[in-house]
Amino acid sequence: MPKVTFHKNGQVFVDEVKPETNLVVRAGIKQFPYPNLRYECGMGKCSKCACKVLAGAEHLPPPNWKEKKQLGERLDQGFRLACQIWLTHDIELEQPEMVVAACS
Ligand code: FES
Repeated sequence: MPKVTFHKNGQVFVDEVKPETNLVVRAGIKQFPYPNLRYECGMGKCSKCACKVLAGAEHLPPPNWKEKKQLGERLDQGFRLACQIWLTHDIELEQPEMVVAACS
């Protein structure tokens, strides 16, 4: 069973999930990492579920076109869209606060 370590706001949440688990789907049915995972569309369109992969990235498939479109250069920093990945191995993720663009 994949072990998920999820960092958010300085706290760490850990749980095991079934293989082929999608964390946004789980959060949608109020299971770990609910209520700590930020997400919205579940379809790779909003990028609110973006998480930085701290460990286990080698077990993930390459980013799909939605991740490339939404994340751009953040892909190089290790970000993935949680709604677009199905977990088969242990993973450690961090979800930083959204960077809000300043209005001028
Ligand atoms: S929840 Fe919108 S892109 Fe993942």
